[in-house]
Amino acid sequence: MTEAAASSTFTPRVFSGIQPSGGLHLGNYLGAIKRFVDMQDRGLNGTPIETIYCMVDLHAITVWQDPAALRQNTRELCAGFIASGVDPEKSVLINQSQVPEHAQLAWIFNTVARMGWMQRMTQWKDKAGKNTQNASLGLFAYPALMAADILIYHATHVPVGEDQKQHLELTRDIAAKFNHDYGVEFFPMTEPVIEGAATRVMSFRDGTKKMSKSDPSDASRINMTDDADTIAKKIRKAKTDPEPLPDTLEGLTDRPEARNLINIYAALQDITSEAAIVEVAGQQFGTFKPMLADLAVAKLSPISAEMARLMQHPDEIDAILSRGAERARVIAEPILRDVYKIVGMVR
Ligand code: AMP
Ligand code: TRP
Repeated sequence: MTEAAASSTFTPRVFSGIQPSGGLHLGNYLGAIKRFVDMQDRGLNGTPIETIYCMVDLHAITVWQDPAALRQNTRELCAGFIASGVDPEKSVLINQSQVPEHAQLAWIFNTVARMGWMQRMTQWKDKAGKNTQNASLGLFAYPALMAADILIYHATHVPVGEDQKQHLELTRDIAAKFNHDYGVEFFPMTEPVIEGAATRVMSFRDGTKKMSKSDPSDASRINMTDDADTIAKKIRKAKTDPEPLPDTLEGLTDRPEARNLINIYAALQDITSEAAIVEVAGQQFGTFKPMLADLAVAKLSPISAEMARLMQHPDEIDAILSRGAERARVIAEPILRDVYKIVGMVR
């Protein structure tokens, strides 16, 4: 199927997911959640679009999760979404395991995807490490479940950070092979939406590594639960170089740490990195860092305060997720029914 066919035949719909494996950080916020809120509120090129956002607990357990911690992290992630501006009335907010159609479609996709495709995934290689024989089968099949998350809603647009690009290409490969093998034009060719000034937020300790919850150094990242003092201290201590800031982005080519702070400054204010560098040209980090710290505290502290407030009401969070699952299944059920029919299952 051509891309033109995809966009004309399918109602535009946004889907994205985040793993409730603990510790939402600034990378998740700027690369993903903030973009989710933008798409919910502004639509796609000004046209309103249906948005579905998911806590992917089935993905999280592809590496060991303590059950009590998983439950807590799922609620905390839900609180993080809502505190950041995802509105459970405007968006469908769900926990993956509460919508069984994701796992059901994932099984079908396990039969469509090829071993070789999975083996090439950099996230698999990174997470499995050297001892692949001891990695879970679920970790290997992870991208087929991710394709199912998206395609069970015929989602056409998926906002993510840069690191998910390869998984979205695989999603298209799975959709195309399914369509081809069964001679149908059933699944859309989903578009990744990797936009904004901070699609890849880097570590504060090493500007060549992405900011990540798995980095052993807490100073490498801003956690969405950090208080104002901690946020300011981490920015003050972030690794930089002794040069003043240049007046163009080209001047930052070999200065990854400086470039990262500029991208964060831009993304927090919803401006481009080009506009940000013009604004701060010539400044020393001694001036720029306190400015960035003030901005980060102003934008992030209300979110962490609201998360803490919502976490006092786990029953309300659970009710929001139950309602979200009901709404999601209205879309997912008929699509799964059609898939089973296409594949030849007697119903
Ligand atoms: P994860 O925590 O791996 O489930 O990631 C959730 C979302 O956050 C995905 O869309 C990622 O692409 C995005 N993300 C994670 N880390 C970063 C980062 N350092 N910079 C930008 N986006 C990120
Ligand atoms: N793999 C994504 C990550 O680690 C999470 C994810 C699961 C996802 N299913 C998805 C993202 C569907 C977008 C769409 O960040």
